[in-house]
Amino acid sequence: MAPDLFPFVRPFIHALDAEKAHNLTVSCLKIGLNGLVGKNSNPSSLNTEVFGLKFQNPIGLAAGFDKNAEVITAAHKIGFGFAEAGTVTPLPQDGNEKPRLFRLKADKAVINRFGFNNKGLAYFTKGLRKLRVGHTPYGANVGANKTSNDKTADYVTCIEALYGLADYFTVNISSPNTPGLRALQSKEALADLVDRVVKARQEKINQGQPHMPILVKIAPDLTSEDITDISDIALNSDIDGLIVSNTTITRPAGLSDMQKDQTGGLSGAPLMAASTQVLHKVYAATNGNVPLIGVGGISTGKDAYAKIRAGASLVQLYSALVYEGPGLIDRIKHELADLLENDGFNAVSEAVGADHR
Ligand code: FNR
Repeated sequence: MAPDLFPFVRPFIHALDAEKAHNLTVSCLKIGLNGLVGKNSNPSSLNTEVFGLKFQNPIGLAAGFDKNAEVITAAHKIGFGFAEAGTVTPLPQDGNEKPRLFRLKADKAVINRFGFNNKGLAYFTKGLRKLRVGHTPYGANVGANKTSNDKTADYVTCIEALYGLADYFTVNISSPNTPGLRALQSKEALADLVDRVVKARQEKINQGQPHMPILVKIAPDLTSEDITDISDIALNSDIDGLIVSNTTITRPAGLSDMQKDQTGGLSGAPLMAASTQVLHKVYAATNGNVPLIGVGGISTGKDAYAKIRAGASLVQLYSALVYEGPGLIDRIKHELADLLENDGFNAVSEAVGADHR
């Protein structure tokens, strides 16, 4: 394992405003400074196949880090098994007023109220076109513009424009920072949305394009009834999986950082328990028949393993990178491989949903 320099760099990065630090990190990755992270490896037990795609490891970069599809190659080089770019909206938009990103250092958490700031579909498309074939799997996470009257149409627009340029799509209906977006998780609205995006895909397939998996990303703040409805739709429609979960608008008990009452979505360590609980419920409600990606609060191999045992075939993370740096990815992979071996699993797929058996 390469020496981890992040603990030495962290005080300088954390002395910067959180959004500036993020933009600086993305710029460094764009010019190839990921080389400083050193070599990383993929224990063979972590190789896995989901949605018909092959992954060298199940640890992915969650959406929101690479909003404009600029650092997918770097994400692969620092050891992620896959990366999800976006959320992209059809038109570029500035997002909410700054400041809009807050570190809750005492809680190893982050609150953001970005509001889908992004350079829009045209720029995003160019980024994906530059990628070479044979790359690590990557997804395109799509959303709706704030001022859009027909939000569902925005998802269809993105999917049509990006078709064939990524390995999978994520339909993000769970960001808390775009008014009205999360209402798309209700039974009727979701059924209509799924119907329209699946039809858009079918048209592409009819034109000779390959089948691209479509996943739906949900919030952790759902009632049991919502979870049942969404699970039914996932089971009875042609979508390919669910991502559980986005950030939470709740503030779990025990938060101690001064920034805890900022408006926005909370992510990081305090989200782990709630998002894993929703994952458990969705896995149970779908009888393990819908592939799930578990995300929310992962910062160790143990956390990743807990999501897998709860029902996730793949996992993603973002906030822990803020506190632990990129060396974290290699540590998680080796911890996870050890945990699988200790429990007698030869592969990730064998452990998926183990807590339900
Ligand atoms: C996010 N997340 C997010 N999700 C998404 O689908 N589209 C987005 O644009 C964003 N943007 C975003 C920005 C920032 C600053 C953060 C911290 C998060 C949510 C993210 O993908 C993930 O679901 C949650 O952050 C939970 O995972 P972690 O961060 O606890 O590992």
